[in-house]
Amino acid sequence: MPYTDNYQRDTYGVIDFWVRNNFEHGEFFDREISHHEMELARANQAMTQRMGKIFERTESKTGDIGLILAEAKSSTHEFHELLVHTMDKALHCEVIISTPTSLLDHMIREAEEAQKVFKLIETNAYVKPADATIHESNFWLRQMVDHLIFISHYVDASNYELHDQVRAMTRKFENLLLQAISLKTMIRRPRNEVSPILNNFNQMVIKETKALEAFKLELSELIKNCAAVTTAPPDLLEHIAREAHHLWRNLEDQVVL
Ligand SMILES: [Fe+2]
Ligand SMILES: [Fe+2]
Repeated sequence: MPYTDNYQRDTYGVIDFWVRNNFEHGEFFDREISHHEMELARANQAMTQRMGKIFERTESKTGDIGLILAEAKSSTHEFHELLVHTMDKALHCEVIISTPTSLLDHMIREAEEAQKVFKLIETNAYVKPADATIHESNFWLRQMVDHLIFISHYVDASNYELHDQVRAMTRKFENLLLQAISLKTMIRRPRNEVSPILNNFNQMVIKETKALEAFKLELSELIKNCAAVTTAPPDLLEHIAREAHHLWRNLEDQVVL
């Protein structure tokens, strides 16, 4: 298996996960900016380099954590602004990129989630297990549905069997997302316990997300070996497999961080 979960779930590791996430978004986006958009390409490249420097430090676990966190926050904020600005232009048909607008929105939501996580680290906040799992499911299941839709976007139309498989998985994750949204309002605050109903749902999401992670890694191998007709960037599938891994791990540990 090409991908292993080698990120440790300490503060360095959590910052690393989120900064790396934004860094890779910058790299993927870089491939999809037309040469008509030099200014956008340069701005995106500068931000990607800046984020790359931060996760070099989180990976080696060196440097003052407060300074790293401040740099992570400000670079994420800057990148978020660039994406929001670009999405607005895309909605007005004023930018030439091949990135779907829903993918820009997807990356913006992950940048916003990163900012929330940085805030939790900063304030040393405690999130109750039931609140944590409801939050994680609601946030990440939407991202998982998006990932499957983006796989359809990148995988060539000639892969008929694969498209069928992706459609079936999309349906499954749409159902899980709807259930997560329902449970969020059915199980009201204060959520002092992980009830049997919530626990049963969490276990189902863990099982399906593990299967989704395995599927993404299988496809990643094919793409890396140029054995599937696709326009996906080579590291994309590993990126979204890491996010699936992050979801089921957080559900097992009942945490947001
Ligand atoms: Fe991502
Ligand atoms: Fe994602």
